[in-house]
Amino acid sequence: MSQSRSRSGEISLGPCPPDEFSGRADERKTLLEVLQEAKDHGQVVMISGRRGSGKSSFLSWAEDEIQNETKGSNCPAIRKEFLETAGMVFFTYRELLTNLKEHQKFGWFRKSLDDPKVKKSIEVGLGIIEKMSSLAGPASIGVEAGVAAARGFLPTENVDYTQLLSSFLQMFRALSEKMVEEDKFMAILLDDVQWSSGPDFQLIKDLIKSLPTRIVLIIAFRVEAENEKKHAELQGEISRFGHKEIRLGGMTEEAVKEFASRRYGLSIDDQTADFLSQKIGDPLCLVGCFNLLQKRNLSPSIGNFKAILPQALDSARCIYTGLDSKWQSRVNSLCILHPPLRLSVISCMLKEEDLVVLKDELDQSLIFRRLETELYDFAHPSLREYRRKELPEGAAVKLHSQAAKCLENLEARL
Ligand SMILES: Nc1ncnc2c1ncn2[C@@H]1O[C@H](COP(=O)(O)OP(=O)(O)OP(=O)(O)O)[C@@H](O)[C@H]1O
Ligand SMILES: [Mg+2]
Repeated sequence: MSQSRSRSGEISLGPCPPDEFSGRADERKTLLEVLQEAKDHGQVVMISGRRGSGKSSFLSWAEDEIQNETKGSNCPAIRKEFLETAGMVFFTYRELLTNLKEHQKFGWFRKSLDDPKVKKSIEVGLGIIEKMSSLAGPASIGVEAGVAAARGFLPTENVDYTQLLSSFLQMFRALSEKMVEEDKFMAILLDDVQWSSGPDFQLIKDLIKSLPTRIVLIIAFRVEAENEKKHAELQGEISRFGHKEIRLGGMTEEAVKEFASRRYGLSIDDQTADFLSQKIGDPLCLVGCFNLLQKRNLSPSIGNFKAILPQALDSARCIYTGLDSKWQSRVNSLCILHPPLRLSVISCMLKEEDLVVLKDELDQSLIFRRLETELYDFAHPSLREYRRKELPEGAAVKLHSQAAKCLENLEARL
């Protein structure tokens, strides 16, 4: 069971650790088939579903499955996510190229990365992104700078874009040759593609068209009213090139049983599992529901689940209500910031100066997760989204002006 759990037995809201990933048998099988087919053609697969349906968790499972040396495919996988922050054009790709360059897991892959053709295309890609850094947005500071994304490409940027696309394709082709030599494949996993900026989304669509053999692109897309058009566009491209979409719906009765056992060490009967599958289904709500059960120290009976169901259905509210006042206040102060959240900005926003203590508390917390050293985000974006909507306007204005001061301080120090 999860390392990240509270004393009362509640678990983190973050993506599920691969060894606790439950159910989704058909979806896992489909992905494994797609990986098999990578030997003949480049593969793209879109993991789609509503908020909290388990897309990021599915990516974590897939990443582990691909890289695992004993029970998996023993192949390299690089995972990156788009952040809910406007103006971060090509930021995710820059991270992707940088991580690729530094990939250490497999010796043979390290050598492939030293191949002059591969090396050159990565450097060219990074160079172009650097040159377009006016577009590359606010790096990790978290200031919203949507101007570049909103105004579209200028003619010179169009040239740069074409060069960037071509450097990615050259890199994939050169790596594809290496994969053939080694009888392996390489996977790129991109999460939260619904938040990709216009140019970032364009690059995904262009890459889908010409992915060489043994390169696999796995993308996760949250489907909701505001991005249905984008989803339909991506679906169009996916089916045009004969690729697959894996849709994550509700958890089946069997999956709910497995979930209860793997994540909470609880055994539930068929009737309770059927009730939860019918009435809740989505994993985020299930986590909210089981966490509440644990917090209240209740047994996993159908009667207890029926009693907490009304609260559990609104998972973000349910999670927020379960927090003590210190963490509620922290969530409220930080929900207006755009991810990633720097430790120094968090400390300034919360007016908590002891960075060591703060860092430790964030690392242990079930509602925040560490992205990199000193960079954090909410463990699940729904909590931020929920609190942003609920903040009274006066409080939001005050927090924004405080954030502006904190970010100014940070910029002055950088
Ligand atoms: N198959 C699963 N088995 C066990 N736990 C799961 C499973 N899928 C998701 N979870 C848990 O459910 C919650 C939501 O999952 P996750 O964050 O992966 O959803 P998501 O679809 O990526 O959400 P969003 O659209 O907001 O990004 C997390 O707490 C995660 O640990
Ligand atoms: Mg997610």
